[in-house]
Amino acid sequence: MPKTTKRHIAVTGGAGFIGSNLLLHLVPNHPDSLYVNIDCLTYAGNLANLQAIENADNYVFEKIDICDYNALKECFDHHGIDSVIHLAAESHVDRSITGPAEFVASNINGTFNLLELARVAHEQSREFRFHQVSTDEVFGSLGATGYFTEESRYRPNSPYSASKAAADHLVRAYHKTYGLDTVTTNCSNNYGPYQFPEKLLPLMIRNATTGKQLPVYGDGRQVRDWLYVEDHCEALELVFYEGETGETYNIGGHNEIENIELVRMLCRTLDDLLGGGPRENLIEFVKDRPGHDRRYAIDPGYIKKKLGWVPRYTFEQGLRLTIQWYLDHEEWLEGCLSGEYRRYYEMNYGKR
Ligand SMILES: NC(=O)c1ccc[n+]([C@@H]2O[C@H](COP(=O)([O-])OP(=O)(O)OC[C@H]3O[C@@H](n4cnc5c(N)ncnc54)[C@H](O)[C@@H]3O)[C@@H](O)[C@H]2O)c1
Repeated sequence: MPKTTKRHIAVTGGAGFIGSNLLLHLVPNHPDSLYVNIDCLTYAGNLANLQAIENADNYVFEKIDICDYNALKECFDHHGIDSVIHLAAESHVDRSITGPAEFVASNINGTFNLLELARVAHEQSREFRFHQVSTDEVFGSLGATGYFTEESRYRPNSPYSASKAAADHLVRAYHKTYGLDTVTTNCSNNYGPYQFPEKLLPLMIRNATTGKQLPVYGDGRQVRDWLYVEDHCEALELVFYEGETGETYNIGGHNEIENIELVRMLCRTLDDLLGGGPRENLIEFVKDRPGHDRRYAIDPGYIKKKLGWVPRYTFEQGLRLTIQWYLDHEEWLEGCLSGEYRRYYEMNYGKR
């Protein structure tokens, strides 16, 4: 798909962590495309993230639950939607263990609704691209060596990753069965601005700056492959506009780090920036998460070869930028924790 094509793109989950970063990147970069942010604003959706673009001519927000087919259809018809970049999902593994039903509803049934709308458009011979944004967690856990590639078997271990895997399979089936123009991306752990403070990095930053314990699951030796969110957004842009139909692309930054080492790096950076410490003394090992995958690591060779994507940030650069962002945006973090951010929708969209 040529980069200059005018598109009317539904970005689902645009008020979440990656969605916000993606829209802040795409909206000013592609004035010819219209971006319709479809988000039902769960606890993880925060419209205040998008203040910089909320009045842009090529941006619209629609408060819709992707489980509501009729509302989605009305929105697609109204805006003449011809593509979807699908990020809306329940995304927190811990929550999926205590309450898997919402994960099945949003991540599987919600994806199904969007695919059905795409299928209708496709069968009416209208051009329609569907980009499924997924995770490397669908591949399960690695041993001490090896990498996930596009050929790796799906072996999800948590209700979260199982629901994402099911959605990926539906997307694949809609391409193979109906010929729908699809692309899928499977990305490793993201970090950066606007991440809800239940996730590892913002949680640890807040605890470390307020003198609270830093809870680390099990022995802390689980390995994750970290990618700065802006690098992920650039990869998503490239795959959406230039990816080959029916293809999947793995996205990762070759930054394999044990959780405990990540927390130690974070403590050292905070000690360096703020003085005091050593904050490593706040580390506390807690009972491991059930079914906790040991190691994830992505081989990003295919996307590099096919689309020329490589990450721009080293882990040290990304980590420093991230820590500094949270230190500079204490109000944002506190607003998330107090629930204050929920008022933003009422204040700015409530009367529309
Ligand atoms: N965060 C990561 O490290 C990571 C890595 C790889 C892939 N992903 C995938 O990227 C996507 C975005 O992840 P994130 O970290 O930004 O998640 P997030 O939890 O921060 O945001 C999810 C967004 O989806 C919205 N949403 C949830 N259910 C919805 C529904 N039924 N209808 C409409 N909107 C709904 C929420 O309101 C929120 O704005 C997810 O699909 C996730 O699986 C995330």
